[in-house]
Amino acid sequence: MVDEQPGERWNRRYAEERWPDQPDDLLVARAAGLPAGRAVDLACGPGRNAVHLARLGWTVTGIDASSVGLAQAAARAGAAGVQVELVEADVRDWRPVAGGVDLVVVANLHLPPGTREPFFARIVAALAPGGHALVVGHHPDSPGCRGSLGAERGYTAELLATLLAPCRLEVHHVHRPGRDGRGPSHRLAAWATLPGTPGTLC
Ligand SMILES: C[S@@+](CC[C@H](N)C(=O)[O-])C[C@H]1O[C@@H](n2cnc3c(N)ncnc32)[C@H](O)[C@@H]1O
Repeated sequence: MVDEQPGERWNRRYAEERWPDQPDDLLVARAAGLPAGRAVDLACGPGRNAVHLARLGWTVTGIDASSVGLAQAAARAGAAGVQVELVEADVRDWRPVAGGVDLVVVANLHLPPGTREPFFARIVAALAPGGHALVVGHHPDSPGCRGSLGAERGYTAELLATLLAPCRLEVHHVHRPGRDGRGPSHRLAAWATLPGTPGTLC
């Protein structure tokens, strides 16, 4: 859920709950075949995906509103012996250089309609030719969406195709056993590729 002060809510949550350590499977699979470049992890939290990319040699910036999450990300990067630039900010204020990023990661961030469209338009504009975006998040029928989040913040394949146009999309449905007594979760994991040849201008 995102509210006017997303950092405060997540500071409390990260202080009470250990967040998963493992990077997203689709990121692991796809990044393994890519040359290292410039990556941005938007709403990076404790940095599992950002640190994975840094370990592969990527130059990574992680942005999040939670100081506690970022402190955990810094500790994770330190333990792995890698550097990640960590920025405490609202991702809705992110204004990237056009074409300046090879890979954008957005994992488990569910912005409301109205806010997410310009946010994803900035992601697409930030991608270099041939660049990629990984998006992971709850489908509207997932218990995570039926609760406090609200189904309108969930992701469908059709919505992602619209948000990430003109990228080519590979979309996976990921079903996992429920946590905290909730039903099984249903997430989408999408790998988007902007047309174009890496290293060339559009
Ligand atoms: C579910 S966690 C996901 C963390 C990480 N991406 C992962 O998958 O491990 C959601 C994260 O989004 C961050 N967040 C939510 N809204 C935000 C906003 N508007 N600006 C910056 N960070 C935000 C929270 O602070 C939190 O760290």
